[in-house]
Amino acid sequence: MTDEDAHDGDGADPAETADAETVVRRDRFAGGPARGFLSSLAADERIFAADLAVDRAHTVMLAEQDIIADDEASEVLSGLAAVEDAGHAALPEGEDVHEAIESAVVDHVGPVGGKMHTARSRNDEVAACIRYRYREDLLDAAEATLALREALLETAADHADTVMPGFTHRQYAQPTTVGHFLSSYAGAVERDTERLLAAVERTNVSPLGGAAFAGTTFDVDRERTAELLGFDGVVENSTDAASARDFLVEGTAALANLTATLSGLSADLIEHAKDGYFDPSDDYASTSSIMPQKVNPDTLELARAVAGDVSGDLTGLLTTLKGLPRAYNRDLQRATPHAWDAVDDATEATEVVAGAVATGDWNADACAADAGAGFSTATGVADALASAGIPFRTAHEVVAAAAAAAPDDADAETLAANLDSATQEVLGESLYEYVSSAALDSALDPAGSVASRGSRGGPAPDAVAESVARMTETYDDHTAALDTRRDGLAAAEVALADAVDTYV
Ligand code: ARG
Repeated sequence: MTDEDAHDGDGADPAETADAETVVRRDRFAGGPARGFLSSLAADERIFAADLAVDRAHTVMLAEQDIIADDEASEVLSGLAAVEDAGHAALPEGEDVHEAIESAVVDHVGPVGGKMHTARSRNDEVAACIRYRYREDLLDAAEATLALREALLETAADHADTVMPGFTHRQYAQPTTVGHFLSSYAGAVERDTERLLAAVERTNVSPLGGAAFAGTTFDVDRERTAELLGFDGVVENSTDAASARDFLVEGTAALANLTATLSGLSADLIEHAKDGYFDPSDDYASTSSIMPQKVNPDTLELARAVAGDVSGDLTGLLTTLKGLPRAYNRDLQRATPHAWDAVDDATEATEVVAGAVATGDWNADACAADAGAGFSTATGVADALASAGIPFRTAHEVVAAAAAAAPDDADAETLAANLDSATQEVLGESLYEYVSSAALDSALDPAGSVASRGSRGGPAPDAVAESVARMTETYDDHTAALDTRRDGLAAAEVALADAVDTYV
């Protein structure tokens, strides 16, 4: 028998005169060396408000179902109001916030306060509290991703034609634009928002009424408590309701993905700052304590590191949950903080990176100066030859021969001469039999090279503008979805307060 069994029941307690501590704890948490180890009370501050909401909704439902009398509900609800006014810090010691709030309610209103725990267990209670709080945290994280997307898309639109070098394997690869580079991340963060919003859906269902794991003899109305708490529905099976933490895994996995995206963006921006393309604003930079000339992109380095913390939290969660039997096991108490840490760290890092992107400057001259470096227009020349009917493999061979013969800093004239002799060598004819000199000049010019790549999602300024416009539409849809969610939760809060008001 667990202490949960002791809590369930109709609240009729023979020890009517016992003090609150004894009523709630039945001496099981009296002391001992493991007291601190057992308690989650400090960490539970995060779900203090959630627990009060859950207690209120449950109490209202108990009264509506005639499981407790209206005047008993009103006493419990006034006790909860007093507990709320006093705050988390004023709670008596206890194993957790659920027990401490119940003790405090009993302290305020007497043994009738014990009626609150009728037809439930801390197992469904804690699961409800975590879901109630976590959905808000996920929405905050999603909102941060929207701010980052806004910064990326606005800067991308401003720099749709700012030509810069593009890299693969950290080698000059093909010229691109700042707009194309930044909107590549806007696309990734768009999926991060989607994953977070999907995680909100799976989080936002009510486990309340599942009791310890095996349901209850009382005629509870699970849909009603779900509705009062703004949940979209209930977790069907009562054992699943008490046990499930996969919603935390899903949310944390979405956040791990997001922070992996952030770490890549940060790494790129750090590199671009080193090359003089990107100038982080002073608000997001730091200097050296000894080298006064330095402007270090420290915030981006810290943001890059957050991916490590969050993937650690995901691992912590999964390894804690792995192999846990049904239903409630106290291991779950140590799973929860991983989810809080991950969402706090990821949200903060996302906000910081959004700020760094929104306030940083792009140095168009420095970007342009390197845009054609390392014969990075070569692919465009091969494309031009292929357009003239030469098999792409042969065109590739011609350009590779020209590139091998060209020094790293070769100008367009030298490259053109090299290309001509390579064409003669491989094809036995002049380059200009296939490509006009104007077309060649344009292919060798980084801006011309970029402008020629106007395929959907490509870097040509028009293509970037179209991509940004499409991504902005999705951004608007996601903003609306987030607002609808928040409005729904706010409306439920008002409905719960109104329901409570009918009793007090
Ligand atoms: N503090 C616990 C947690 O965070 C609450 C549930 C306790 N339930 C129990 N049967 N001991 O998971």
